[in-house]
Amino acid sequence: MKIKINKFPLEIRQILTLISSLSRKLKSRSYLVGGVVRDAILGKTNFDLDIVVEKDAIKFASLLAKNIGAGYKKHHAFGTATVYAKNHKIDFATARREYYPFWGSLPKVKPSSIREDLARRDFTINAMAMSLNADNYGELIDAYGGFQDLKRGLIRILYKESFLDDPTRILRAVRFKIRFSFKLEHKTARLLKEANSLKALKFVDEQRIRNELILILKEDNPPRYLKELWRITNFYFLNGKKIRKDELVIFNKIKNSISFYKRNFPRHRKIDEWLIYIMGCIFRMNSKEAENFCRTFAFRRGERIRLVSSVLLRNKILKKLAKKTITKSEIYTLLEPLSFETLIFFHAFSKDKKVKGNIAYFISELSQLRLKIKGKDLKEKGLKPHSLYGKVLKKTLHQKINKGLSSHQEELDYAQKIFKKIRRSGARSKTADRLRSKNIKEKLKR
Ligand code: CTP
Repeated sequence: MKIKINKFPLEIRQILTLISSLSRKLKSRSYLVGGVVRDAILGKTNFDLDIVVEKDAIKFASLLAKNIGAGYKKHHAFGTATVYAKNHKIDFATARREYYPFWGSLPKVKPSSIREDLARRDFTINAMAMSLNADNYGELIDAYGGFQDLKRGLIRILYKESFLDDPTRILRAVRFKIRFSFKLEHKTARLLKEANSLKALKFVDEQRIRNELILILKEDNPPRYLKELWRITNFYFLNGKKIRKDELVIFNKIKNSISFYKRNFPRHRKIDEWLIYIMGCIFRMNSKEAENFCRTFAFRRGERIRLVSSVLLRNKILKKLAKKTITKSEIYTLLEPLSFETLIFFHAFSKDKKVKGNIAYFISELSQLRLKIKGKDLKEKGLKPHSLYGKVLKKTLHQKINKGLSSHQEELDYAQKIFKKIRRSGARSKTADRLRSKNIKEKLKR
């Protein structure tokens, strides 16, 4: 069977033709493999190309990169390379056999044929290739029944130990099952259950789990994936207190709050939606557990700060936001240090209409407020010392929030007034300090 190559975008067709002719030149054989073949059969475009060659992948990639004037990166340890074309990432690997020294370890590899290369893959639907060789260009290579499974909507592993060799396939099974609304083939479902009862995901490097989890959370409609993931794993692979079935509703609430944000504030900053869903996964943890979780799964510093603050500050902030008499500048002071991801999580988490309203008000109005004056305006007025500017501008901003200073002049007048006041009180407290130390000294003398 031939793949309908004319359905691929022109750019991809050109790259594939070029790979084919390089293949002939290098006396190698090359194949398009994995997700892109699956998606081509489903009539979907996938912009990430995976190429398997039966010779040196790094040499092949460097030649392609040179031909199209693109950059490329070698990964010597794995014998692979990536070419960065304009809109596409093209991964090259040498056809290989794999074996896993122990469960969850990274595989050891040996060069092999395309058939053997396909045999080591996760699911039959991802274990198909398309020939890029002149003698059978476009031919589908489907040694393990991937085409049939794609038509029947089945996720099927290729060999019995697949989930144990690479437990991240448990997460991948959920991803493909929900994305395509497929079913797990009977035996696959049983083996997945067995792998989970052995807590197979506990044997994997946590960073690989984190990466697969993030991929799941970047799919459309993450709550569907998270519920399925919870159903089959109960989140056993996360450290710390897990969420209960009746609490899964948090994921829908998060989805609603994200939609609310995107619908109402399309011009506001772009948010890491996936991170808010992780906040949903860890909301039962205490802050120590959340910190451990972030460290174990090696989240980056900025991600860690946002995740931990969603746990650490949640109760305190939500309680204060619920106060009847809270002023606008109090809302500002409370919420200004937080990321939008954390705010959206709090919006989703809280049941209190007033709290939700205050968060929405902060996002829509207060977070956008800026002073028209800057430090240089104070300098031009000859105000000294400069060290007071930060405090003065902050107070002016709060006045603007509470009392609505609107023009540049109004802001400047207020800033000057407050400057004098702060300087005077500073002078007063200096005198008081001096007096205090004088008293102490005198006491000591006696
Ligand atoms: N693969 C595998 N086992 C894994 C990860 C990947 O066998 N744990 C193989 C599969 O053949 C997969 C290919 O490597 O198709 C490429 O992996 P990846 O890019 O992660 O997945 P895609 O199938 O391309 O999925 P997506 O559509 O989400 O990009």
